[in-house]
Amino acid sequence: MSSSFTKVAVIGSGTMGSGITIVFASAGINVNLVDVEKRFLEEGMKKVRKFLDVSVKKEKITKEEQDSILERIKPELDLEIATEEIQLVVEAIIEEEESKKELFKKLDLLCTGDVIFASNTSAISITSLSSVTRRSDKFIGMHFFNPPTIMKLVEVVIGTNTSKSTVEKIMELCKRLGKEPVPSNEAPGFIVNRILWQFLNESYKLLESGVAEKENIDKAVKLGLNHPMGPLELSDYIGLDVMLHIGDYLADQFGDTYKPALILQKLVKEGKLGKKTGTGFYNYS
Ligand code: CAA
Repeated sequence: MSSSFTKVAVIGSGTMGSGITIVFASAGINVNLVDVEKRFLEEGMKKVRKFLDVSVKKEKITKEEQDSILERIKPELDLEIATEEIQLVVEAIIEEEESKKELFKKLDLLCTGDVIFASNTSAISITSLSSVTRRSDKFIGMHFFNPPTIMKLVEVVIGTNTSKSTVEKIMELCKRLGKEPVPSNEAPGFIVNRILWQFLNESYKLLESGVAEKENIDKAVKLGLNHPMGPLELSDYIGLDVMLHIGDYLADQFGDTYKPALILQKLVKEGKLGKKTGTGFYNYS
């Protein structure tokens, strides 16, 4: 079944989109990587090449494998060209419901009826996103984790109208990609981010109320819970804007106990988004 996936379009060439592109191309699937501006595509391809260079250096893949993975990736600005003869769209654009809906509306007109639409959204309702298309039975969440090249999990998010056949195809595809798919019925934040948000938000509140210094919060969690990164370090790694989007969405759905801590709101307002901008909870320059 999943062998019928030979060509996909990944929309959005940021951290998640470029990582997801590598995952598909490494599994032998052709990818049209799409973004709205040439400079974003160039940045995305730079990330792809950098990861593959390290993979060769680490002897995870050969130089020949690197070349054939790169041959399978086609950066593309034109959505119409990018969606020709594909079987799947994976959307990984900004975490804003209206922007995603606008994109899916366009895609629905461009793609043939059999193309499956998957969103990499971290929290937004799959049913709501699918409502702007005429294919809510072929609409599903494929939620990869950062970094998508390394993290094994894909949450397969099942919307109200997602068909059994779509779920089966995507579960099988995830296995072909070398991932561990975990199905979840849709609910705000699905499984992981619903839990992760409360955990990270508490670490922000600990920091802003002066209970402990940031280094000590991270150190305590790493040593006490055996996590590879502390919560503040992890937030900088994911992107503070991404975390704020998730927190705002969950607070909107579940109420004020989920409301983002003030320190997170302040950092995002100041453009301190974590590792990608050079400053977040920590300074990286
Ligand atoms: N090719 C293939 N494999 C590679 C690789 C490459 N280019 N680069 C790294 N790896 C693999 C290897 O298996 C490597 O181990 P070995 O080389 O020793 O075999 C392993 O990745 C770890 O790589 P590194 O040693 O380079 O990095 P690290 O040990 O510092 O780990 C990390 C980095 C994987 C990011 C780790 O710190 C970690 O797991 N952090 C937590 C990440 C996390 O929680 N992510 C989820 C975020 S939440 C989310 O994404 C949801 C959302 O919606 C917000």
